[in-house]
Amino acid sequence: MADISGPALQHAITKVKELVPHAEKVDTIICDVSEETDVAAMVSHVDSWGGVDVIFNNAGIMHADDADAVDTPDRIWDLTHNINVKGVWYGSKHAVLSMRKFEKKKGSIINTASVVALVGSATPQLAYTASKGAVLAMTRELAIVHAREGFRFNALCPAPLNTPLLQDWLGDDVAKRHRREIHFPTGRFGEAIEQAQAVLFLASDESSFVNGTDFVVDGGMTKAYVTPEGPPTQPPANLAR
Ligand SMILES: NC(=O)c1ccc[n+]([C@@H]2O[C@H](COP(=O)([O-])OP(=O)(O)OC[C@H]3O[C@@H](n4cnc5c(N)ncnc54)[C@H](O)[C@@H]3O)[C@@H](O)[C@H]2O)c1
Repeated sequence: MADISGPALQHAITKVKELVPHAEKVDTIICDVSEETDVAAMVSHVDSWGGVDVIFNNAGIMHADDADAVDTPDRIWDLTHNINVKGVWYGSKHAVLSMRKFEKKKGSIINTASVVALVGSATPQLAYTASKGAVLAMTRELAIVHAREGFRFNALCPAPLNTPLLQDWLGDDVAKRHRREIHFPTGRFGEAIEQAQAVLFLASDESSFVNGTDFVVDGGMTKAYVTPEGPPTQPPANLAR
């Protein structure tokens, strides 16, 4: 597991040890995914384990100062794209290099995008949205380019989640929060574990013919028709039995 934050890694490894007490090999490394040398070091760290079979490029930020076309500062655009887009590129690049180095005949790369790459966000976050669109397009191309090598690339598109990235950003702003909640057919935010189960599938051989997908895990959000009052909770009267 790699992250820029030591406390985040500590939290993660404690959780893994709790959930999988007999896990044989778990390791952590500090890595800023926007720095290629860090990513290269992270990947070569698993050389003694036989190289990369699966990589989950999940690190991402949504900055508090991200805004609309007029108000998004240049430095926030660059910071967001350096982490969210370049980070995924570097992760993909060094995974491919490792798989080639160890002559792997198959491999799975999962890149985290977002539903905001598929549907328009009601809340302005332009740098973030553009970065996730880039992840989607980049992953699709990588999937096709590397298909004959047996390396699969899929993009994960989560709905708004109950994780610090979004919950800290929404804070106590009830109106901002309501603009999100109104879109949920299920009436709730997604949980990280529900994304993790999808990633597990994409990482495994069970998904051996799944390649280049925009793998949407959103409780139906992007397929829902919503009115300004939210999704219908009752069938229309003419359909009621
Ligand atoms: N939370 C949501 O609603 C939501 C929805 C769609 C997509 N996503 C995406 O899911 C992914 C995970 O988000 P999350 O909700 O778990 O966020 P989170 O903020 O809880 O976790 C993100 C992690 O990325 C790490 N990170 C930040 N910058 C980094 C860098 N430069 N190098 C290495 N690590 C870095 C952080 O330390 C943190 O541990 C992100 O790519 C995010 O954009 C989240």
